[in-house]
Amino acid sequence: TQQTTAPEPGTGVFGTGRAAMTMRTLRTDRWWLPPLITVVGLAAFVIYATIRAFVRTAYWVNDYHYLTPFYSPCVSTSCAEGSSHLGHWVGALPVWIPLGFMVLPFLLLFRLTCYYYRKAYYRAVWFSPPACAVAEPHAKYSGETRLPLIIQNAHRYFFYIAVLVSVINTYDAIIAFHGKSGGVGVGLGTLIILVNAVLLWTYTLSCHSCRHIAGGRLKHFSAHPVRYWFWTQVSKLNTRHMQLAWTTLGTLVLTDFYVMLVASNTISDLRFVN
Ligand code: FES
Repeated sequence: TQQTTAPEPGTGVFGTGRAAMTMRTLRTDRWWLPPLITVVGLAAFVIYATIRAFVRTAYWVNDYHYLTPFYSPCVSTSCAEGSSHLGHWVGALPVWIPLGFMVLPFLLLFRLTCYYYRKAYYRAVWFSPPACAVAEPHAKYSGETRLPLIIQNAHRYFFYIAVLVSVINTYDAIIAFHGKSGGVGVGLGTLIILVNAVLLWTYTLSCHSCRHIAGGRLKHFSAHPVRYWFWTQVSKLNTRHMQLAWTTLGTLVLTDFYVMLVASNTISDLRFVN
């Protein structure tokens, strides 16, 4: 059963069945290294993404129809000309509202409530506990039974929104096949945006909630062959969920950075077709 009360003296890590010791751990290996790498990686992404989400520069390449995922969909009249594929839904936005305001909060919530990221930041940021066999510094433990952590249970709803966002990312990848003189074109940017969209799909579909939606609560797989097939595929992806979580953070930054370089004329896109 889940522990919902503070470990009293004599319980939890201070339990009578535990070895009495004053040090936090007997581990002599570098157990602090994985949480350290995790927190540095997450912080680097959050800092980069926050800056880019607010700067409002170099996010759209009109010649090739490259739009960075941080600004998609761009539905404000403040968006660069040509970048509003879904039209203008709102007027001009003040500078403190990111142009990607439609989806960024939900993507943040999707990743914040993700089962893998929960593990990552519970360990690396909240030290609860920081590693196996290393006692946590907190006296109390209530799991995910109270606010704010009870919101973690809403993960499946953020998953539904993330699926919609993946559809939009796919659309962005399709229109990135645009040539300078019109018609179809392919450049390095097209491929980067496409690979990013595919990997975002794999991350989204490898979600634990997706796996449960696919095959959970079924008594007989034999009576549901389609769901069983889908569950089998999702299960394969699901074993790579952590790797996909990190890979997509990397490809999001790479995609945005490449679009920024081309949009700001720092480099010119490597073109293969048109
Ligand atoms: Fe990670 Fe759903 S569990 S995205």
